[in-house]
This record gives sequence, structure tokens and C-alpha cells, in this order.
Amino acid sequence: MREGWEPLKITVNGVQHALSVEPRALLSEYLREELGLTGTHVGCDTSQCGACTVLLDGKAVKSCTVLAVQAEGSEVTTVEGIGSVDDLHAVQAAFWDRHGLQCGFCTPGVMMAAIGLLQERPHPTEEEIRAGLDGVICRCTGYQNIVRAVQDAAGRLAAEQDRAVGD
Ligand code: FES
Ligand code: FES
Repeated sequence: MREGWEPLKITVNGVQHALSVEPRALLSEYLREELGLTGTHVGCDTSQCGACTVLLDGKAVKSCTVLAVQAEGSEVTTVEGIGSVDDLHAVQAAFWDRHGLQCGFCTPGVMMAAIGLLQERPHPTEEEIRAGLDGVICRCTGYQNIVRAVQDAAGRLAAEQDRAVGD
């Protein structure tokens, strides 16, 4: 281990990692530079844009506001871990169908924030969706289709849950 670096054990997208990190390294840097998970974007240096949003132990956080060492022992989910081309996450499918997709830069953070919101509030009102997503910024458009996509995703997740209970 390099001098002054800290050991870090962390599970990312279901895979355990044990790498040492600089104590000042941000979780966003660790994910992008050490693990190559570049779907987590860094769009500002003021903790405002939300492009870096990931789930940390199930809660949506801006990974540029968390030191990597603070995630010791935690489970992190990045946009790469939520679904695949052949098996989209309900939020990804809803964003696709409802034209909620914006550019590749902001969309991963918006979707991760939406997943975090729906985990806390499975049936959010439009107002709650808008409030829940106010930490993720698209610089170039309105949020109408994003809100519709999150409403649609809430319905899909509820249906998935009903199916799971019925199995
Ligand atoms: S990079 Fe902008 S909030 Fe994290
Ligand atoms: S920042 Fe991504 S579409 Fe506006």
C-alpha cells in the first residue's frame, strides 16, 4: 500500500473491491479512476449538478460530496449496476418510453436520483418528484418528460413488486 493511503473495502454493483485510496480521494474519483465506472459523471466542482449521483447503501448521494474512505464497508450502486441492454431497470425502461432521456452526461445522475427517490417514496406525487430531483440539473431542457418517466417507473416498480408477491 502506498504511504499515507488508506485501505478500503467496498462493494460496487455487487462486486467486492479491496484497494487502497488516498485519504482525500472522493468517491466519484474512486469510481471513475480506480474502477473505471465512468457512467458516474463529474459536471461541476460545487456539488450542485448531481451528475455524480450514485446509491450508497440504497440512498442517493452525490458521490463528489463523499470521501471514498467514508464508503468503507458500504454497498454502492452506479448506473452501470442497475440494468443491462437486455434487461433494463424499470427506471431505464420508463425513461426510454417516456422520452425522459436527456444527454448522456446528465441522464445517469437523474436516473440514480429517481431510483433513490422511488425507494424512499414508491408512489410520489408530481410535486414530490420535482422536489426529489431538484439536486440533479439538466442545463438545457425542461423536466416534463423526466417527471412523466418517474411516474411511469413508479407504476412499473409497483407492478414488479405485485408480481414478486404473487410468485
Ligand atoms: S459533480 Fe456536480 S454535484 Fe457532483
Ligand atoms: S445537461 Fe444533459 S441534456 Fe441538459
